[in-house]
Amino acid sequence: AKITFIQHDGSEQSYDGKTGLSVMEVAVKNNVPGIDADCGGACACATCHVYVDAAWLDKTGDKTAMEESMLDFAEGVEPNSRLACQIKVSDALDGLVVRLPESQH
Ligand code: FES
Repeated sequence: AKITFIQHDGSEQSYDGKTGLSVMEVAVKNNVPGIDADCGGACACATCHVYVDAAWLDKTGDKTAMEESMLDFAEGVEPNSRLACQIKVSDALDGLVVRLPESQH
C-alpha cells in the first residue's frame, strides 16, 4: 500500500509499505525524518506520533487504550493523532496520508 508522509514544512514522501508492517516500520525503513520510534513499536515512547489525514480516519480505526495513554506524552496531540506503530498497513490503507507534528522535525 502506498503511504504518504507529509513533513511539517510541507515536503512529501511516499513509499510502498508491505501489508502487515506498521506505518512506523515503513517510515523507519525509508528514513522518513521525524519518526524516531525509540521504543521499536511497543507503544511505549510516542516518538512515532502522526496526524492521520481526515479522509483516512475511519479506515485506520480506533486507538487502543494503551495508545491513548501513551499519546498523553506526545506534544500537540489532536483528535486525529495516532502512534504510527499502532497502524498496520493493509490494502485498505492504500493511499494513506499522515502528517508529522512540528515537534518531531
Ligand atoms: Fe514507540 Fe510507536 S514506536 S510508541
